[in-house]
Amino acid sequence: MCGIVGYIGDHSAVSILLKGLQRLEYRGYDSAGIAVLEEGELAVFKKEGKVANLISQLNGTGLHGSIGIGHTRWATHGVPNDTNAHPHVSEDGKIALIHNGIIENYLTLKSELKAKGYHFQSETDTEVLVQFIADVYRNSDVDFAESVHLALQRVIGAYGLVILNVDEPDQLIAVRKGSPLVIGKGDHAHYIGSDASPFLEYTKEVIYLNDDEIAVVKRDSISITDSKHKRVSPYFERLDLELDAIEKGAYDHFMLKEIFEQPDRLRDCMRGRVLAQSGEVKLGGIRSYADKVYHAKRLILTACGTSYYAGLTAEYLFEDLCRIPVEVEYASEFRYRNPVLSEDDVLVAISQSGETADTLVAVELAKSAGATVLGICNVVGSSIARATHEGIYTHAGPEIGVASTKAFTAQLIVLSMLALKIAGERGTIDQRKKQALVKELQVVPELIEEVLDHAGRIKQIAQKYWLASNFLYLGRGYQYPIAMEGALKLKEISYIHAEGYPAAEMKHGPIALIDAEMPIVVLALKDKAYDKVLSNIEEIKSRHGKVIAIISEGDEAIKAQVDDWIEIPAVLEYFAPLVSVVPLQLLAYHIGIMKGCNVDQPRNLAKSVTVE
Ligand code: M6R
Repeated sequence: MCGIVGYIGDHSAVSILLKGLQRLEYRGYDSAGIAVLEEGELAVFKKEGKVANLISQLNGTGLHGSIGIGHTRWATHGVPNDTNAHPHVSEDGKIALIHNGIIENYLTLKSELKAKGYHFQSETDTEVLVQFIADVYRNSDVDFAESVHLALQRVIGAYGLVILNVDEPDQLIAVRKGSPLVIGKGDHAHYIGSDASPFLEYTKEVIYLNDDEIAVVKRDSISITDSKHKRVSPYFERLDLELDAIEKGAYDHFMLKEIFEQPDRLRDCMRGRVLAQSGEVKLGGIRSYADKVYHAKRLILTACGTSYYAGLTAEYLFEDLCRIPVEVEYASEFRYRNPVLSEDDVLVAISQSGETADTLVAVELAKSAGATVLGICNVVGSSIARATHEGIYTHAGPEIGVASTKAFTAQLIVLSMLALKIAGERGTIDQRKKQALVKELQVVPELIEEVLDHAGRIKQIAQKYWLASNFLYLGRGYQYPIAMEGALKLKEISYIHAEGYPAAEMKHGPIALIDAEMPIVVLALKDKAYDKVLSNIEEIKSRHGKVIAIISEGDEAIKAQVDDWIEIPAVLEYFAPLVSVVPLQLLAYHIGIMKGCNVDQPRNLAKSVTVE
């Protein structure tokens, strides 16, 4: 979703802001803009579309101011156009503001301001906010930071804001509530970002702002106060992140890079946590709540999108291995139901970004009902990671492609480790079985490597089907959520309509769609559902559907029954989703590329969905 970058230092701000905006492109956006303080005045440039459009607009302007803010906007209030793009500026031209999040009471504030004679150019909640802050500033005798504080008392909603005021030209104000902001410390300079990616090449020393904190950021100092005006000592952390982690390197697209780096990222995720010799699983992140987790009466897994499918897959695993009742809930549904929760429940929130608004609210809801709440997040220090009691990081490294790939498999690895740990502690599997499973889990990265070695075959299959306008994905048991995930990947990346179904449900409706034009991806591994899935393939073939089957290596018999097949190496059913999803990621990728789609930044999508 929207992205923020801010700079105050000795260098010209424009190039730093523009480069920062390019690094934020991965989040998904539809317009971009900057404001730079130039000889006592604000120079503001905003453009619909890609950052490249903004760069063209700025060509030849020769701006040299050394303090500025920049924003990529993902439209919520008002269509994507130049006017609605950020920064927004107060009517007197003195205050510029960029905003991530949503101001819920903006209509009330807007009508108050209109009654006072203010005019508005845009349809956004953000313009209301800047006018409101300007009004409080003008009508109070406190300094600007205090005016921001006072104004925000009236504001309902979520925000990460960076504000520039020509009256106080040597500072930026950064403030957050529910939308992350991180400040980087440079040499006689500071950077601000909605994440660290816009300034990673300049510094790794960062401060994560907490909710309700206001930071006054100058070239050489930062002063932070909390909502009660208490001074907070800035706490700098060192980012454990290299620049190449957020660059494409030799790959054409981030999505492809992230698919191919899965084996290494999964090894990172397991490193120090699974000990093949002893069969031990060590999850330091849940140490303090270990007893609660091992003796939970029920597990509730909640998430959105691909992370939800990771939860759905884990339901099979937890039930099989741990014998605990499990519920898997879309966070967006869970938060608006009246869920029956108790202190014996453990809720596990799964989120790559750790910022998904619905998942964050589900966490708060479960916490307030007394449940133990764990987070499985990829982004270290993210809101969900901080809001949960404890958690386990996936350590997949930054995922830049909007379509989740390596984060999904890393979530599955973490959930597998958690299931093994709980099963061992509850005694629902014996030591020998646990040891065997731990060993198998450690081999998964190699198995994925084998699949990746045959990526060329998947591209050939994509070549045959990329013009289809509908796809069906079928799977059973552990492979059912993977069918859902495969379908989601295809629609996100190629805009082809695709549906994932439990294979046996086909005859209850989707079978009506099948004709000679319809490719059906069937997960037909040699697991306990194999024979049943074979029957489904027969049903499809007798209606002339085209079957692309994901099959177990060496299954020669099935090859004659299907149109195309992709083999995956033998793997225990529990961990098979980790391997079988990889060809589906590649299939979606190649079809997307053949259709000429922007696979890293698909239309309308955002990397972290910070609004509900
Ligand atoms: O950051 P999260 O894992 O909480 O995000 C949840 C979904 O928005 C996300 O998985 C989305 O479905 C992806 N675009 C899937 O590729």
